[in-house]
Amino acid sequence: MSANNIILIGPMGSGKSTIGQILAARLDREFIDSDHFIENKTGVDIPRIFDIEGEEGFRLRETKALQELTARKNIVLATGGGSVIKEENRKLLRASGYIIFLDTTVEQQLERLKYDKKRPLLQTENPRERLEALLQQRKPLYIELADLRVPTDGKLTRKVAAEILPKLPRYLTDS
Ligand code: S3P
Repeated sequence: MSANNIILIGPMGSGKSTIGQILAARLDREFIDSDHFIENKTGVDIPRIFDIEGEEGFRLRETKALQELTARKNIVLATGGGSVIKEENRKLLRASGYIIFLDTTVEQQLERLKYDKKRPLLQTENPRERLEALLQQRKPLYIELADLRVPTDGKLTRKVAAEILPKLPRYLTDS
């Protein structure tokens, strides 16, 4: 049984939340960002979770959140950039709906995230090196999972959303 969710995957700063909100509004669906969902559940923000429980603790919470969210129907879900690392998560996402990969270069990520303080993985001497390493590890997983791959570089989020809408299969837009 496959559900009819629309799921956005891709690295930090690829525009998953912004584009997800636009798609949800256009399709009259509920929008959920898995990181916000985790923050609401725990009552603290992501950097604090990393501080106290480390990345490992965060990943456990992320999998629990995905178990709950992928069981829902008719939502637009923005995932965290690292949600594709675990096979268990990939299975959940695959079974839950239509997956869109927002394909972004490190250059664009750096531009979008240059003042960011909310991504613990970027609080490092060399964010570029970190982003490159993460993308190298994760890009094959994003590609493997994706039903649709959309390049986002140099485009406004509105334009990316407008590009995606006509490409969505009918069963997602008619419901
Ligand atoms: C992470 C991405 C973040 C958040 C956490 C870890 C990652 O989400 O889940 O900081 O591992 O790439 P965004 O992709 O929404 O920034």
